[in-house]
Amino acid sequence: MAKEFELKVEKIKKVKTKYREMKTTTFPVQASVKILKNLRKYEPRSMSGQPLALWDHAKGFNVYDKYGNKWLDWSSGVLVANAGHSNPAIVNAIIKQAKHGLLHNYCFPSEMREKLTEKLAKIAPKPLKKVFLLTTGSETNEVAFKLCRTWGHKKYGPKKIAMVSFTGAFHGRTLASQLLGGSPALKEWIVNKDKDICQAPFPNCFRCPWGKKDYEGCDDFCFKNFASYLKKNLKLDAKSRIAGLVVETYQGGGSTFAPKGFMKQLRKFCTKNNILLVLDEVQAGFARCGTLFGFEYYGIVPDIAVFGKGITSSLPLSAVIGRPDVMDLYEPNTMTSTHTGNPISCAAALANIDFIIKNELVAKCAKSGKLLHAELLKLKARHSDIIGALHGAGLVYALHIIKPGGKDPDADMAHEIVKKSLQKGLMMFSPVGFGSASVKIAPPLITPEDALLEGVKVLEEAIIEAKEEAMGKGDSDI
Ligand SMILES: Cc1ncc(COP(=O)(O)O)c(C=O)c1O
Repeated sequence: MAKEFELKVEKIKKVKTKYREMKTTTFPVQASVKILKNLRKYEPRSMSGQPLALWDHAKGFNVYDKYGNKWLDWSSGVLVANAGHSNPAIVNAIIKQAKHGLLHNYCFPSEMREKLTEKLAKIAPKPLKKVFLLTTGSETNEVAFKLCRTWGHKKYGPKKIAMVSFTGAFHGRTLASQLLGGSPALKEWIVNKDKDICQAPFPNCFRCPWGKKDYEGCDDFCFKNFASYLKKNLKLDAKSRIAGLVVETYQGGGSTFAPKGFMKQLRKFCTKNNILLVLDEVQAGFARCGTLFGFEYYGIVPDIAVFGKGITSSLPLSAVIGRPDVMDLYEPNTMTSTHTGNPISCAAALANIDFIIKNELVAKCAKSGKLLHAELLKLKARHSDIIGALHGAGLVYALHIIKPGGKDPDADMAHEIVKKSLQKGLMMFSPVGFGSASVKIAPPLITPEDALLEGVKVLEEAIIEAKEEAMGKGDSDI
């Protein structure tokens, strides 16, 4: 589990570069403590997991507090601001729609909803041609779940209702999305679980569930093990029992992509056994992986894909895009939502998608991602004692922090690295993933290459200081 960021004011060094400024001499900023304390007073404890920068405004690839501090952002919020924070095109579209005078439209027809659903259906590959708009990523997984089960039992009988997802997966915090998740601790609260929702081991090559030391072109071996796990361990006959298979395009916690060959076989397996393949693209969509849709990375197309976060780079909006025969399973007024296609969120999404396409963010992300990847690989080599693996593609990476001499996750070290980076003007979110020990890197896709390189330098300074401190050599009170 993630550690709380303590409300303890520490002295920090001033920083001023083109991309960062730490003007205050303490962090958290002394003047912000009252506000931070009030948040802890009025919000549940669960909300205290992020580093203690008090966000005031954010622009492009920078986040600012109101005390003169300016961070180079490597969080994109939480992989939301793909087209940059407060992107002027998106801001203008939001203002224009608000001034136009329609702030809400429920399921009544509106031109904004028509424009966005048409746009999404047109840019998505076949057979993803019907679009249902929602608000959060969790909801999209709820809907995907509902569609898979309905499709399975309506079409093939009452036994075809099993849903398979993966260990370590995250699909949201509502009931079905949490049940689909692969972290047992996060779903303890559900107590009486649905026995027809099961997880199979995710093909994470750093901690291979099948005992390999590393990726060795073992996609076939991996897939065979997966298929036999379904049969032998989960006692599921694919054809008669499994309705849907849900997989994140990459596992968010560690930016971990499955081997391409594995995913290609998974696609074939689903087709052969009449299973709906659902790709959770809530993090991966809209150019983040160096492709417009994350699934293009694997060269496959799912039956249903779900999106959120980077779909607007700003306001809450999410989407389920799927095969028309599946999307049309429900009668009028039986699959709806109050805020479906909110016109202002639709305006933001349309401006965001246009910006991504016009400004060639896919190609830009692929190019700057290559540079960042190469630099992070060098960083990993220089600190291989504590960085066990580097996962990711495009502009999403994670350093998997380990205890020297093995592969055990080192959550404390990851926490220190994120904290020290923040004090130096590099914004990342709380360590995530296996044992909360991965340092996740997800800059807005518009970040210039020299700013990415500056970020790597700052990250390395933080790593060195965190290591020195762990060895008792650090000067904790600068
Ligand atoms: C892959 C994935 N799916 C679903 C969700 C849930 O989205 P939301 O927080 O908008 O409900 C997240 C959120 O982090 C996610 O990363």
